[in-house]
Amino acid sequence: MKANRIAVFASGRGSNFQALVEAQRKGLLGAEIRLLVCDKPEAPVVELAKAADVDVFVFQPKAYASKEAYEREIVTELDRRDVDLLVLAGYMRLLSPSFVETYSGRIVNIHPSLLPAFPGKDAIGQAIEYGVKMTGVTVHFVDGGMDTGPVIAQRAVEVREGDDAAALAERIHEVEQKLYYEVVSWFAEGRVSLNGRHVTIADKVQEVEH
Ligand code: GRF
Repeated sequence: MKANRIAVFASGRGSNFQALVEAQRKGLLGAEIRLLVCDKPEAPVVELAKAADVDVFVFQPKAYASKEAYEREIVTELDRRDVDLLVLAGYMRLLSPSFVETYSGRIVNIHPSLLPAFPGKDAIGQAIEYGVKMTGVTVHFVDGGMDTGPVIAQRAVEVREGDDAAALAERIHEVEQKLYYEVVSWFAEGRVSLNGRHVTIADKVQEVEH
């Protein structure tokens, strides 16, 4: 599957969004960020998008009668910009089953643990609490469940003695910010394929010099 017109969905700080913007500036993303979708008007990520000249669709869920109602508007905004890949980066809402179905195989998410360990909220706190020695980052397709979709890429991060959630989060975020743009670039190069739960990444085609 080849996809290179992306929308980022985010609700908060936006460090992953910013890393994608910077990768695009440096020519490392291979894709164009056409839209930020945000459900929190006051989120810092909105300002980051404006500063980067990225279109923003920001909405207040409470102003709509239902999830379907605001998701219809999201679909209109995505269609208007021919978006072909939805990149979730700290979007704190579950998408409806029909939305996920509409974009099946075209929604990815980043999660701060080695899934299937520690799905859901506060994955970093869960890892500290459990006492694991190794955790990490997962990029996966989004399906109808909570962090259950097919895994595209994972990177391990060691939990050090004395780590608290803040210290571990800092190292996890560093890894996230390098991994996410790389995965998006794989989509842009058409290298990602999905077969059941299994994702394969084709080798990069070498440019032949003439
Ligand atoms: C990241 O840790 C990501 O893994 C999780 O939400 C966080 C978003 O952080 N899904 P940011 O808004 O990109 O800084």
